[in-house]
Amino acid sequence: MHGGKGFGGGEATRDPGPTYYDPNDPKGKQQAIHKAESFAEYLAKRGSAVSGGATRDAAPPPAPTTPVASSRPVARVQQRDARRGTSWHDGAASATSHDFLGNSMVQGSWSAVVSPRSRAVASPPAVDYAAVRKELKLMMDNPSWDDGSLAPIFIRLAWHSSGTFDKASGTGGSNGAGMRFSTEAADPENAGLNAARAFLEPVKKRFPAISYSDLWVLAAYVGLEHTGGPAIQFHPGRSDHQDENYWKEKGMSYGRLPAAEKYLGDEVDAEGRVVGWERLSNHVRHEVFYRMGFNDQEIVALLCGGHVYGRAHPKASGYAGPWVENPTVFSNEYAADMIEDEWFLVGHEDTWLDEQGAAELRPALGKRQYVNQKRGGQAGDHPNQMMLVSDMILAWDPGFRPHLEVYAQSEERLKEDFGKAFKKLTELGCGF
Ligand code: HEM
Repeated sequence: MHGGKGFGGGEATRDPGPTYYDPNDPKGKQQAIHKAESFAEYLAKRGSAVSGGATRDAAPPPAPTTPVASSRPVARVQQRDARRGTSWHDGAASATSHDFLGNSMVQGSWSAVVSPRSRAVASPPAVDYAAVRKELKLMMDNPSWDDGSLAPIFIRLAWHSSGTFDKASGTGGSNGAGMRFSTEAADPENAGLNAARAFLEPVKKRFPAISYSDLWVLAAYVGLEHTGGPAIQFHPGRSDHQDENYWKEKGMSYGRLPAAEKYLGDEVDAEGRVVGWERLSNHVRHEVFYRMGFNDQEIVALLCGGHVYGRAHPKASGYAGPWVENPTVFSNEYAADMIEDEWFLVGHEDTWLDEQGAAELRPALGKRQYVNQKRGGQAGDHPNQMMLVSDMILAWDPGFRPHLEVYAQSEERLKEDFGKAFKKLTELGCGF
């Protein structure tokens, strides 16, 4: 965690660095405000707010109600103040539970402040999240990459680092950034994400105090905000695993991420659906998203908000092309097009796609996907778009379909629900 608890932990390790604050990050704000004021100035202001202009010794902080890291037990501080004839404000009796800037105070965060000895309390170095955000924003548009934005690959990195969570055992999730290690990196579902990690490496070098796991999630949030998606409040505090032992100790196995064609047969039914789609739907619903603690509405929101971004790469997953016409801007186009357009199953052997100007939609050998192109059509009839079979289940499964229809109608509703679900996803297992 960064910065300690409120003023207390931060004060123990004050640094004279510049004052920035991230409006999306209340903890950062606390810390920044904290840095902005000298301790004496702060106490003078607080003293006048709480007990009429008292000095530090005359107006000690309220008694913590919960134990906190401190080199001096509260009782001894109270005894000291009693000896000095000063009064002790306890939290309940205090006239205010807000500091002089109107921020509510964290109960129990004060004991580290009262004793100079508490400066020994260890606290991780502060991270200037506003500066990290700025850096991420500056790099987000990149004409040399795919469709000109790094937002899609950062969103996928954050999703895949979080999507290993298992609610029953409490294992996995974005905390740890386990994809830095060979086993998780080699999960076939993570193919291609090495590029995202490499893009972020210089940012990590520039801001070494941020954890990889926080950086990956923050990069996705900045990407979303930068492209018209939801603005999600960032909660820092993830820490990185130092090695892969974590996975072994917890008896975890890899392969927790969804696969786009799992359990499917070879045939197609009269309605053009690949036989076995119900089993795939079961995989996505139960084996993946219910396992993490999501419901049907959240699953649909996550997919509709996630796959409006970016594209599939034959060299990474084997699938090919973008889901929507404009894959670097948030919209409900994925949901609307899935319902409104006609979708046709294709494989690598469908070379007619190349002849019709849709070579970018032809998947690698052994892969199948749906496209909005019809054999025999004219080049340019439609923009090139695709859907994975695991996307199409949102339209076919009666539990998912009603939610898809809502999002096809309302971009605002999708933005709100996707923002909530993505925050939940990226905080799973983090203990916030
Ligand atoms: C059933 C669940 C899902 C499956 C099977 C799935 C599968 C895939 C596949 C195969 C790709 C192509 C990767 C490549 O070739 O580079 C992809 C890309 C992507 N996915 Fe998903 N995905 C799922 C859910 C999600 C969710 C929940 C999100 C985010 C909320 C998401 C966000 C993305 C993004 C942004 C990309 C584009 C990456 C890029 O442009 O590099 N996906 N997904």
